[in-house]
Amino acid sequence: MAVKTLKDLLDEGVEGRHVLVRSDFNVPLDENRNITDKGRIIASLPTLRALSEAGAKVIVMAHLGRPKGEVNEKFSLAPVAEALSEELGQYVALAGDVVGEDAHERANGLTDGDILLLENVRFDPRETSKDEAERGEFADQLASLAADNGAFVSDGFGVVHRVQTSVYDIAKRLPHYAGELVEKELAVLEKVAKNPESPYVVVLGGSKVSDKLGVIEALAAKADSIIIGGGMCYTFLKALGHDVQKSLLQEEMVDTCGDLVKRFGDKIVLPVDLVAASEFAKDAQKKIVDLDSIPEGWMSLDIGPESVTRFAEVLSGAKTIFWNGPMGVFEFPAFSDGTRGIAQAIIDATANNGAFSVVGGGDSAASVRVLGLDEDGFSHISTGGGASLEFLEGKELPGVAVLED
Ligand code: 3PG
Repeated sequence: MAVKTLKDLLDEGVEGRHVLVRSDFNVPLDENRNITDKGRIIASLPTLRALSEAGAKVIVMAHLGRPKGEVNEKFSLAPVAEALSEELGQYVALAGDVVGEDAHERANGLTDGDILLLENVRFDPRETSKDEAERGEFADQLASLAADNGAFVSDGFGVVHRVQTSVYDIAKRLPHYAGELVEKELAVLEKVAKNPESPYVVVLGGSKVSDKLGVIEALAAKADSIIIGGGMCYTFLKALGHDVQKSLLQEEMVDTCGDLVKRFGDKIVLPVDLVAASEFAKDAQKKIVDLDSIPEGWMSLDIGPESVTRFAEVLSGAKTIFWNGPMGVFEFPAFSDGTRGIAQAIIDATANNGAFSVVGGGDSAASVRVLGLDEDGFSHISTGGGASLEFLEGKELPGVAVLED
């Protein structure tokens, strides 16, 4: 089935038309609400620029965090509107609401080439509602903002795995198109999902094992090695009988992890040493320890240097690499060496072994930039975390499926 693209929309002509665009501006913020990584904003620029230059009246929908259906200043898109204006070199107004009076007034007042950003769509509980009728009502209201021969462009790759109003239901109400970012991401990930050149090494980190179980099971059949680090590795280590002390643990997943190791033990590669910390703090006391020597009451916040060497060895021979999730608490410089070391090993395998390397995920993509690593050293840095994992698992992405005609 075919999906129309931004190019098709531009060929049809957009001058003077309202075009609703779904972007993913779910960016990390520090405690003063400064954006710490603008990757997702930058990735959204080509589609927005193309539409604006072609004379569309652009209305952008996006979310930030999980405000749970309530207006909450902490989750306002104000910092995004500012950064987007700067990056585009064009003023982007922020509506004071999502489908209220202000949004309507501003949408009606747009002139050709203008870009308007609606407030966080998740301020409205109907955005994430499980009830199709509720989402439908919200979708009707969003569509009504695009009164001038409206169209919908889906460009928020990071959210296409969600059945949410601004991603899914809206596409059923307006002529719909895949934006440049969604098209590009799908093309790259398809290459990894369908024809990964062997050896294919998957590196998984991040905190929740339960989020990644599906991908481990699905990839165990395809990948040659699955390297596991980060917050999720402690549940595996516990399953193997190690004393992880106060390290992050998903107790209810210990048996499942044990079972995964039994079934795919020849492919799963786990850390051999750790960086223990006296507490969860950037200035905590730290100590490099072997798997059974985390001091009492301490926790591990990173993989150790021997683990980095071991993982790097596996990566050096890879021809295809997919990496999702940091190896430790990279936001604390004292516990960032594991993530940095693995990122560098992937960059080296890309340069020296011709590996096709994809970084998937908000956190791992952010870590590359926050740690000052060379972004061009990877074949592709995806803007989608959950979305890229679900795609590799072989699941249908509802926000893409709904674009098919
Ligand atoms: C992400 O950060 O992965 C996307 O923006 C989706 O956010 P969500 O997990 O809150 O739906």
